Amino acid sequence: DIFLPERGNSRGFDLRNRDDLEEIEAARAPFRTERFRAEPMLGSAFGRDRPVREIRNPADPADIAGEVADADGADVEAALDAGRDWSHCSPEKRAEVLRRAGELYERDFGAIFALLAREAGKTLPDAVGELREAVDFLQYYANQAGALKAPPRGLFACISPWNFPLAIFTGQIAAALAAGNGVLAKPAEQTPLIAARAVKLMHEAGVPRDVLQLLPGDGATVGAALTSDPRVDGVCFTGSTETAQAINRAMARHLAPDAPLIAETGGLNAMIVDSTALPEQAVRDIVASAFQSAGQRCSALRVLYLQEDVADGVLEMLFGAMDELRAGDPWALATDTGPVIDEEARRGIVGYIEKARLENRLLKELEKPIRGTFVAPTVIRVNGIGDLEREIFGPVLHVATFRVAEIDQVVADINACGYGLTFGLHSRIDDRVEHITSRLRVGNIYINRNQIGAVVGSQPFGGEGLSGTGPKAGGPHYLSRFVRTGIRVSTV
Ligand code: NAD
Ligand code: ALA
Repeated sequence: DIFLPERGNSRGFDLRNRDDLEEIEAARAPFRTERFRAEPMLGSAFGRDRPVREIRNPADPADIAGEVADADGADVEAALDAGRDWSHCSPEKRAEVLRRAGELYERDFGAIFALLAREAGKTLPDAVGELREAVDFLQYYANQAGALKAPPRGLFACISPWNFPLAIFTGQIAAALAAGNGVLAKPAEQTPLIAARAVKLMHEAGVPRDVLQLLPGDGATVGAALTSDPRVDGVCFTGSTETAQAINRAMARHLAPDAPLIAETGGLNAMIVDSTALPEQAVRDIVASAFQSAGQRCSALRVLYLQEDVADGVLEMLFGAMDELRAGDPWALATDTGPVIDEEARRGIVGYIEKARLENRLLKELEKPIRGTFVAPTVIRVNGIGDLEREIFGPVLHVATFRVAEIDQVVADINACGYGLTFGLHSRIDDRVEHITSRLRVGNIYINRNQIGAVVGSQPFGGEGLSGTGPKAGGPHYLSRFVRTGIRVSTV
């Protein structure tokens, strides 16, 4: 039996509403030029000078969002020594603290939206969605805390990616804390400023400083040190499949054999559009799935399969819709797609596109701003998902066509790629929907809608195979991995 907690989603903002927009503009304006700061936040006093590096706005390299002092080996050691769980605190009290943190996140939405734009290149709709998701995680896991009768595992290392620098960073920590664990939080090296703000708010809400510590720094040093220290009792990781595999190997060598690795990783996500789909609806959902967040979502659509009979018409409509997309400063309300996270990411994606150009496979490419790390939304022709060797983490959509008789082969190819995160299907034939979805091995399936933006509590999120270990985040089983035994039946 599982305990299904009350839903409790955050209030969010309605961006079609002028009052909401004015409220946002007024709240974020003071942070347009603020220089934010991040440094290790340790349980024991450990004040000392450390070298700092600048964090620049990916949309505008002249805009310095702030400075970070990364943790070094001595900081990691101090954090491991000071870290403790908070099982002395009742689950009800822990839940109260997490809910309070959610309220503080909502109180500080102006600074948070500014940070999400200037540090992570998030457009306003993405930033609004991200804040909501973070608050939802805090509330959802808080609601579950009381149902967990098993003890915490101890100290969790929570290692997160830059593409959801608030939501995933918060979700991992909230889950570990709700279960009573202590946390050593290692944000992505690209996004320490938003992480520092989040940890400050969680401390302000009442999480003790030695229960939640922040260790900004890179993966090879801080991340690797945490995942190979036997004082760590479990690791919660979101990021690339390759990094998850490296962590798994390190844990096998150094951590207790029962220390869990909860890993949410990459995807090669497909969508099938058949001839019964509504083209306008399919095109809207293709554009959102492939290009929103500049394609930097693990859930994003990578390979679109169009039924041959309608492919030309759908592509013409898709290219027309793409012509309306505006790439630019994520702060501006008119912007649809922001930059990719940094120059290294831009160079990798552009190199991939150039190869496709030389092979004469480029079907569509948009204009992009000259400054900043932008990649133009692009469409590339492929024979099928098997042509993709790896996840391209940017606004690049691959398109293949299929005949109805080939549907089973398409499904087999999608399963054979090894990943299994999201899948989209546009069809109005019920039997076909059932036929396809019952055969696919993926975590999240979306029918006649876009395939991004899973809602905490309603759409638990996570993949199979190379896409993750499970259990799904924002779902009823997630917290069970953070305690020493499984979830007990609630008596509520
Ligand atoms: P990444 O794997 O490069 O880095 C993720 C985190 O791991 C960072 O904090 C990094 O510093 C750390 N890290 C790197 N090497 C490490 C090591 N050896 N030991 C310990 N920690 C280490 O991923 P990224 O580029 O930050 O994020 C993009 C990836 O994340 C994409 O593959 C995307 O699909 C995936 N992702 C998955 C989900 C999901 O829910 N499945 C959600 C968001 C992103
Ligand atoms: N949970 C995020 C989404 O569904 C990754 O897009």
